Amino acid sequence: MWNPEQYLKFQEERSQPFFDLTARVRCSPRSIVDLGCGTGALTATLLSRWPAAKVLGIDSSFEMIERAKTLEVPGRLTFELVDMTSWEPRDPIDLILSNAALQWIPDQESLLEKMASWLSPSGNMAFQVPANFDEPSHMLIDSVVQSPKWLSVLGRDLPKPKILGSAKEYLALLAELGLLTAAWETTYLHVLHGGDAVLEWTKGTTLRPVLEALSPGLQSEFLDEYAKLLSDAYPPSSIGTVFPFRRIFVVGSNVDENPLAPVAALDHVQVAMPKGGESEARYFFTGILGLREIEKPDDLKSRGGCWFGGDGFQVHLGVEENFTPAKTSHIALRVTDLENIVALLRDKGHHVQDLQSRGLERFCCTTDSFGNRIELIQT
Ligand SMILES: C[S@@+](CC[C@H](N)C(=O)[O-])C[C@H]1O[C@@H](n2cnc3c(N)ncnc32)[C@H](O)[C@@H]1O
Repeated sequence: MWNPEQYLKFQEERSQPFFDLTARVRCSPRSIVDLGCGTGALTATLLSRWPAAKVLGIDSSFEMIERAKTLEVPGRLTFELVDMTSWEPRDPIDLILSNAALQWIPDQESLLEKMASWLSPSGNMAFQVPANFDEPSHMLIDSVVQSPKWLSVLGRDLPKPKILGSAKEYLALLAELGLLTAAWETTYLHVLHGGDAVLEWTKGTTLRPVLEALSPGLQSEFLDEYAKLLSDAYPPSSIGTVFPFRRIFVVGSNVDENPLAPVAALDHVQVAMPKGGESEARYFFTGILGLREIEKPDDLKSRGGCWFGGDGFQVHLGVEENFTPAKTSHIALRVTDLENIVALLRDKGHHVQDLQSRGLERFCCTTDSFGNRIELIQT
């Protein structure tokens, strides 16, 4: 059983690798699945990282998913209680993430193979696993568990986190699966505060299966023994208890044709607008063209401007001092009913050129509220 409260005691330290991992993902996914999403707190941050994506988090722990479900956002973020080894997606996925979870999967090779098969043609996977199993925090658990006294109580079959080896093994496996892959390792030097800090850390993860196998009385006996060994291995210093933690990071992309092509899809186009023109931009792009407004990331809000999204693309309007409208560069949008939208534009006082044909395609040119050229093409 996972205990969300215990796990979140070191939320900041446990979150950093997730952000370091996702920073390395260079694509604009429309669908994301987070395998072993835990409390969902990190999964939820993907909504602002990729505003056009629908995100699903799955986890096999009832307690974790109950907590994650409180973060659901209809149409954008959902969570499911399911084991990742038996789960199958309905559609190909643009980005599969997994942070600090795959080490609990005994047959990781098979799962990684399945994950590669779930990717869309330009899909990506990114995962992070701990690689700290030869550090005292973990070795000391083993040494206590293996002592004759505890072996007779616990046996040899406790579930144990396990990884394939070093980053090199993951690199080789994903390359074999046909993915363009990058892998790296990082040792974090966490500075933990409070008494028995490393014990509190492992209680939230590695130590779980051991404690679950013991009665409350035996749990405290085990913890006393382990804590004594830990305090020698991790003496507190003037800045706190320094806890080195090595982790492996892997990203792989499913690039079908040219394995060197770094571009997966068009994400957005940006055009300029004058300062203070946000209401006019909204009037044109949402009121007339029917796009939806996308909230700008917090750190960009102060610059003004606004973003809009359609099916698989975004249009960003950025404020420009000394604005002049774009007459040649333009945004070309496919529309389902060209005549209707032309009539609406004219009704609202927009200048629209006569319909033209290029081969079988019919299109026309107009301008947005600021005079930027817009092409509308009948789909
Ligand atoms: C260390 S937590 C990481 C949670 C989250 N990814 C994070 O970074 O905060 C590992 C999670 O993996 C989940 N997990 C382990 N085995 C799983 C499986 N077979 N299927 C789905 N989830 C699993 C656990 O329930 C737990 O929530």
